[in-house]
Amino acid sequence: MDAEVKRDGKGRGPTGASERSAVDPFLAMDVLAEATRLEGEGRSIVHMEVGQPGAPAPKAVLDAAREALAGPLGYTEALGRAPLRERIARHYAETYGVEVSPGNVIVTTGSSAGFMLAFLAGFDAGQRIALPSPGYPAYRNILKALDLIPVEIETTAETRWALTPEHLEQVSRDGPIAGVLVASPANPTGTMMEPDALEALIRKAEELGMWFISDEIYHGLVYEGRRAASALETSPDAIVVNSFSKYYCMTGWRVGWMIVPDRLVRPVERLAQNLYISVPDLSQRAALAAFDAREELEAVRAVYAQNRALLRSRLPELGFETILPADGAFYLYADITPFADDSVAFSRALLQEAGVAVTPGPDFDPVGGHRFVRFSLAGQHAAMVEGMERLAHHLGRS
Ligand SMILES: Cc1ncc(COP(=O)(O)O)c(C=O)c1O
Repeated sequence: MDAEVKRDGKGRGPTGASERSAVDPFLAMDVLAEATRLEGEGRSIVHMEVGQPGAPAPKAVLDAAREALAGPLGYTEALGRAPLRERIARHYAETYGVEVSPGNVIVTTGSSAGFMLAFLAGFDAGQRIALPSPGYPAYRNILKALDLIPVEIETTAETRWALTPEHLEQVSRDGPIAGVLVASPANPTGTMMEPDALEALIRKAEELGMWFISDEIYHGLVYEGRRAASALETSPDAIVVNSFSKYYCMTGWRVGWMIVPDRLVRPVERLAQNLYISVPDLSQRAALAAFDAREELEAVRAVYAQNRALLRSRLPELGFETILPADGAFYLYADITPFADDSVAFSRALLQEAGVAVTPGPDFDPVGGHRFVRFSLAGQHAAMVEGMERLAHHLGRS
């Protein structure tokens, strides 16, 4: 509402909010707030709306944090503590067979800060950045807040819900595109790009003079023997953004990282110094231990795999005919048109009447999202079983 007033040119003044702050709310968080309110009234709610692991941070991380609390905690280098940067660099050799210098690793306050730094370091106000739709809503909202222009490209089953070199050529005809951002596996779909499709997209982006930003936050969370390829396997010029939030179960610790080419290291360092000085020392010290918690984290992934199998068999039985390919992450993005044509109303009724919280699609796709909801399967298995029972009852299929 405030934003509307601003756009009309009225209401300007020292007490008004800026036009750049008029970004969309995140509906998933609104659903969470309503679900929490209902829980406060004593209702039982199955949470399938939020994209965060139900499991706590691994034991090794908690032990490292306890130990760190005994010593002084202070500011660190803006680019991050050296041992963590070195360990992250080693992760690239171990996981992808790619040599990354610790000097190109930058520790960030979650991948969210990584996007801000990448956008500020790589782009100037008014430049256009290509994004696939459906996609994670914060990309477009951060870009808008920074006076950058998101160019959202609707993807379809024909290209397996991925951007293609042809898409990039097509949107470039309307004016230069300064960068392209993709996530594989993606949110809300869980869909992964085939390795050769990813490689072709990176090569085309670079040929067209675009920064390629690769959100690799769901790496590690892939199923059925798949492997997520890093953009760095194709190009040392890619900007990679990643996080301890998802695979490593550390959402609340606000720690992530990015890998940037040499020419962006100092610009990002200057921005980080001024924007937030450094990432919390405690979280950095704890995150160092996360790489040694493989066994525990794989057990968490096994629960997601079990949840994914349950939903992938149960949802079609209940009448959901189209579910996007969920190769990784912990989501299923399902078409609700067999039941309704407005996913916001559908989600509201499901929450109010059945106590199941899901996220409506318009968060992820303002054009076609009214036909979809996102189920997060990151919770405990028993909760998923209960959620499917309630959904069946709600749809009159039990
Ligand atoms: C695709 C994607 N990227 C980035 C993020 C942000 O995560 P964080 O800032 O916790 O690293 C999320 C969170 O849901 C996400 O789904």
